[in-house]
Amino acid sequence: MIGRLNHVAIAVKDLARASAVYRETLGAKVSGPTPQPDHGVTVVFIELPNTKIELLEPLGENSPIAKFLEKNADGGMHHVCYEVTDIIAARDQLKAKGARVLGDGNPKIGAHGKPVLFLHPKDFAGTLVELEQV
Ligand code: CO
Repeated sequence: MIGRLNHVAIAVKDLARASAVYRETLGAKVSGPTPQPDHGVTVVFIELPNTKIELLEPLGENSPIAKFLEKNADGGMHHVCYEVTDIIAARDQLKAKGARVLGDGNPKIGAHGKPVLFLHPKDFAGTLVELEQV
């Protein structure tokens, strides 16, 4: 069902500092910061030859990553995003197998302007999983 790894998202407290590490220490191609108020994060996109890394910094008071950063003061891997061709079919298949879909269960438009869903980390080896329809 799942296809390519679309991105790995890393939550950070200091986006400028994390961007500098990827740009200068790791020598990666790093975008400027993009505020996404609807998602409660500011995002930096890092293009790798085979996938992307997204650095997420909390934005606003009810950021969905605020709690994660309380527990992970140095930042850390927040979720992985897999591509699917039909997100509704994927959702229904996963639910039939007992997986929990977060929120109201309906896809929302994600950071790349495409429909996304999140799956409960307890059902996927302790990892928050995002599905993106491509
Ligand atoms: Co994501």
